[in-house]
Amino acid sequence: MTVYDNFSRPGARANSRWLQDRHGRTVRIVRGDIRRSRARLVGLVDDADLVIHNAGQVAVTTSVQDPGGDFDINAAGTLEVLEAVRASRRRPPLIFSSTNKVYGALKGVRTRREGRRYALADMPGGVTEEFPLDFHSPYGCSKGAADQYVLDYARVYGLRTVVFRKSCVYGPRQFGVEDQGWVAWFTIAAEHGYPITIYGDGRQVRVYLPWRPARRPLPLPLAFRPQRSRPLRLRNRQLKTGDDFFLRRHVAPPSSAAILPPDT
Ligand SMILES: NC(=O)c1ccc[n+]([C@@H]2O[C@H](COP(=O)([O-])OP(=O)(O)OC[C@H]3O[C@@H](n4cnc5c(N)ncnc54)[C@H](O)[C@@H]3O)[C@@H](O)[C@H]2O)c1
Repeated sequence: MTVYDNFSRPGARANSRWLQDRHGRTVRIVRGDIRRSRARLVGLVDDADLVIHNAGQVAVTTSVQDPGGDFDINAAGTLEVLEAVRASRRRPPLIFSSTNKVYGALKGVRTRREGRRYALADMPGGVTEEFPLDFHSPYGCSKGAADQYVLDYARVYGLRTVVFRKSCVYGPRQFGVEDQGWVAWFTIAAEHGYPITIYGDGRQVRVYLPWRPARRPLPLPLAFRPQRSRPLRLRNRQLKTGDDFFLRRHVAPPSSAAILPPDT
C-alpha cells in the first residue's frame, strides 16, 4: 500500500509513522501534494490496483476563511487525481470521499421535535442518494464539484469510479479538532479537560459512522465493476445527537495512543 499525503493535517505524520511501525515494508509513505506534479502522480497510480482518494481540505470553517485554497485542493486537486488515473496505463478504479454537505440544508424537508432531538418528519431513514444536490458553503461547493467530476469521468472516459458521500466518520487515531472530526474532538477534549462548545440547541442530529476497518471494510467490490459509477451514502442507520455520544458513551473511548497531542 502506498500512502500519498502532504502531511498538512496535524497528526498525519504521526499516523504514517504508526502505520509503518505496524506494517513495515508493506506500507510505503510518500510525501507529496495531489496538485503537483502530475507526472509523479501518474507514476504512483500506475503501480496501483485501486486508488482511494481521501486527500482534502476538510473543514467548512477553513473553507469560509479561504475559499480559493479550499477550491484549489478539493476541486482542482481532485481533477488532478482524475487526470492522473486517466493518463495511467492501467486506469485503476477510483474511490472518492465526498460528503453529505452536497445535500445542503435539505430544502423542503420537514423536521419535528421528538423528545430530546429533531427528526425528519417524512423521511425516517434519512435522505437517499436520489435527493437533489444543493451545495452549501465553499467546502460543500468544492467537494460537490469534485463529486460530480468523479462521476462524470466514468461517463465520459469510462473510468471505474465510486463516490462515498460520508457523514461524521470517526475512529482510532483520528486527531479531531473543533472544526472537524467532532466525535474525536469531544473525546480528546474530555480526556484533557478542554472546554467543549455545543453549537445549536443540542437537539440537532448527526449520523456518525464508527470506522473500524477490521469490522467495517470498505465495500471495495463495487469499485471493480466495470463502468459502474455511482454515489453512495456511507453511514449508520442510527441518528444521534452530540450528547447521545458524549453522555451515554455509546462508544468506547479510544486508546491512549489516539489521544496523544498531534505532532505539529
Ligand atoms: N471525517 C469525516 O467525518 C468526513 C465526512 C465527510 C467527508 N469526509 C472526507 O473524507 C476525506 C478524509 O477525511 P478525514 O476526516 O480522514 O480528514 P483528514 O484531514 O484526516 O484526511 C485528509 C488528509 O489529506 C491530506 N491532504 C490535505 N491536502 C492535501 C494535498 N493537497 N495533497 C495531499 N494530501 C493532502 C491531509 O494531510 C490529511 O492527511 C476528506 O476528503 C473529507 O472531505 C470526511
